[in-house]
Amino acid sequence: MHIFDAIRSRRAVKYFDPEFKLSESEQTELLDLAMQSPTAFNLQHWRFVVVDDAATRQAIRAVAWDQAQVTDASMLIILCADLNSWEKNAARVWANAPDAVREMMVPAIDAYYRDKPQTQRDEAMRSCGIAGQTLMLSARAMGLDSCPMDGFDFEAVAKIIQLPADHEIAFMVAIGKKTRDVWPKPGQLGMQEVVIRNRFPK
Ligand SMILES: Cc1cc2nc3c(=O)[nH]c(=O)nc-3n(C[C@H](O)[C@H](O)[C@H](O)COP(=O)(O)O)c2cc1C
Repeated sequence: MHIFDAIRSRRAVKYFDPEFKLSESEQTELLDLAMQSPTAFNLQHWRFVVVDDAATRQAIRAVAWDQAQVTDASMLIILCADLNSWEKNAARVWANAPDAVREMMVPAIDAYYRDKPQTQRDEAMRSCGIAGQTLMLSARAMGLDSCPMDGFDFEAVAKIIQLPADHEIAFMVAIGKKTRDVWPKPGQLGMQEVVIRNRFPK
């Protein structure tokens, strides 16, 4: 599928076929594609919690407004941000760079993030958002459907997945085969409202 078609045909699907299962290799391919996403300073702050245990899916659905996607999609991936990835041996993600690049980037990471909790969180969340879109477009390119989701109790889900204290949930993505079409796009804003040339008007 051409990438433009994947972008234009992706919808936030509400009903998935519970009988449809992605193979292990398809799941691995999707995760590998998501991991090609760009991240600030190449920190790869995302952690992908793949929930394949049925009881855990049920527990999450119970704190997610009973949304059917949670249990019925073939894959449920909770995108989590590791807020402290900047200080966890960041040198390893520059190990294969030319020496001069690595010697510049590693101290720059420390200077950029240290004592800046808002920056630590913002950057990790940006990276999760981009990875989530990569995941959904990759799924569409494989003929699959998806739904991004944040309609759930974040604290309750954090407990269920034993989220470490220095991580935060960004959102989750359900992936599988749809059983029902979504309603037509409910209302796209026009470019005249969304696109700003150079600066906002005073
Ligand atoms: C961060 C985020 C959270 C969302 N949470 C939910 C959700 O919990 N349940 C749901 O059915 N759709 C959810 N959506 C889907 C949006 O409602 C949907 O993307 C929007 O209405 C546009 O529709 P489309 O994606 O089909 O074009 C979410 C989307 C985003 C980006």
